[in-house]
Amino acid sequence: MSKILFINACVRPESRTYDLAKTVLSALEGEVEEVKLIEAELPNLTNELIELRDEIMSTGNAEHPMLRYARQFAEADTIVIAAPYWDLIFPATVRAYFEQICVTGLTFRYSHEGFPVSLCKAKRMIYITTAGGPIFEGFNFGYDYCKALCEGYFGIKDSLCVKAENLDVWGADVSAIMAEAKEHALKII
Ligand SMILES: Cc1cc2nc3c(=O)[nH]c(=O)nc-3n(C[C@H](O)[C@H](O)[C@H](O)COP(=O)(O)O)c2cc1C
Repeated sequence: MSKILFINACVRPESRTYDLAKTVLSALEGEVEEVKLIEAELPNLTNELIELRDEIMSTGNAEHPMLRYARQFAEADTIVIAAPYWDLIFPATVRAYFEQICVTGLTFRYSHEGFPVSLCKAKRMIYITTAGGPIFEGFNFGYDYCKALCEGYFGIKDSLCVKAENLDVWGADVSAIMAEAKEHALKII
């Protein structure tokens, strides 16, 4: 069965991003594995952690728990990322997650010419976000960053952004905006 990795960076209990993500997930076929970033409490990479990871990789111990998120990412068929639009990008937990999974020799390697070559299975990434205001053209940094990383390092050529905007604008009809975003999501995924 197809594996869907749901990287959940939602923070608030009443998260609208999570609500939109549920609609997207309901339309995908496969077994969903969820990583709740707010509960995972991933550490920023310190020098000690980098050295430890290098040592683990050099001894060929890819089963080490420190590499579990990278292994899980490499084995997924579809990546779904749900992250609220924070400070033009996403919550810091998403960067901490990518620091965990960008592992040379596990999720990607470098070719002799120095280009990253994917070691991941996934072919598709769906990024879901909601914003208080508008997401202006060229300022969808969360999606653009995930798309660039997924394409450049993990060989995921098919990326898609599902979004709902202007939710915190005074007088906004939140239910209508969300309903429209869900309808649009179901059309494009
Ligand atoms: C820490 C923080 C930063 C935010 N930064 C932005 C921002 O840069 N631009 C924007 O339009 N909305 C911003 N917002 C509003 C959220 O994007 C908006 O409320 C979103 O729907 C929250 O998603 P959620 O319901 O999944 O928590 C921010 C909210 C928070 C809490």
